[in-house]
Amino acid sequence: MENIIKIENVSYKYYDKIPALEDVSLSIKEGEKFAVIGANGSGKSTLLQIMNGLIYPSSGSVFFRDKEVSEKTLKDKGLLKFFREGVGYIFQDSDIQLFCPTVLDELLYGPMQLGLNENEAMDRAHEAMQMLHIENLKDRPSYMLSGGEKKRTAIGSVLTMNPDVLLFDEPTNGLDPRTQCFLVELLFALSEAGKTIVIATHDLSLVDELHCRVAVLSEGHRLEKTGSAEDILKDEELLLKVNLVHEHMHCHGPSAHRHIHSHYLFHKH
Ligand SMILES: Nc1ncnc2c1ncn2[C@@H]1O[C@H](COP(=O)(O)OP(=O)(O)O)[C@@H](O)[C@H]1O
Ligand SMILES: [Mg+2]
Repeated sequence: MENIIKIENVSYKYYDKIPALEDVSLSIKEGEKFAVIGANGSGKSTLLQIMNGLIYPSSGSVFFRDKEVSEKTLKDKGLLKFFREGVGYIFQDSDIQLFCPTVLDELLYGPMQLGLNENEAMDRAHEAMQMLHIENLKDRPSYMLSGGEKKRTAIGSVLTMNPDVLLFDEPTNGLDPRTQCFLVELLFALSEAGKTIVIATHDLSLVDELHCRVAVLSEGHRLEKTGSAEDILKDEELLLKVNLVHEHMHCHGPSAHRHIHSHYLFHKH
């Protein structure tokens, strides 16, 4: 498989002083499911925003299908279009993404921006609404939607642009269990359809369910390890080190035990 996104020695500092990524290199292959995991503040969102060209690295390089994407190269309108059409980003906070009067307008906005005619845009919107089960919401404004409905609509607004790569920042955060389940199924369906899926998360159960390749960021904003979900999730030492699980003492009967905790895994009493 070809690399679709390549990150080479990328560092990023906010305001030239707050470190968010330190010398991170990784490649994502076309069609794969990939997760970036790490504790709060490790740099996951920053990395996804760099992959989408929302921000540019302080040093290092980013490639999309072997083309370097930087502030300079994206001045080329052709490359900018190629990159913008190729990579879609779903924000952690759906409210940032939704700004149109209704759900349907939200879904039509992207394709209209891409220059599709109204019929084609409408076809894409209907297809996305069916896939996301939001047809009944099409005339609603976003402030009349639940968190889960907002998330579906935000995903729809990206899907109607039909990008090859979908970047999801903390996709399960704040969703009820049923919507989380729906989301996992959706990620599988999109993957089956050939999309490259990249998620940033500290939800280890999601990583487990997706069977994806995983990159682990440390609290020092460095790439600690990449590997299969299976290998990473059984590496308790690594997960402790990067603060994705924690150890604590407590008593069962007369003796004290040490347990490793995450939200979901390894919590066996
Ligand atoms: N807009 C910002 N301004 C200043 N610092 C930021 C900003 N966004 C993130 N940071 C800092 O950059 C580091 C990485 O943050 P982030 O990429 O959001 O991590 P994560 O998504 O893993 O929680 C953190 O130390 C965070 O405080
Ligand atoms: Mg984040």
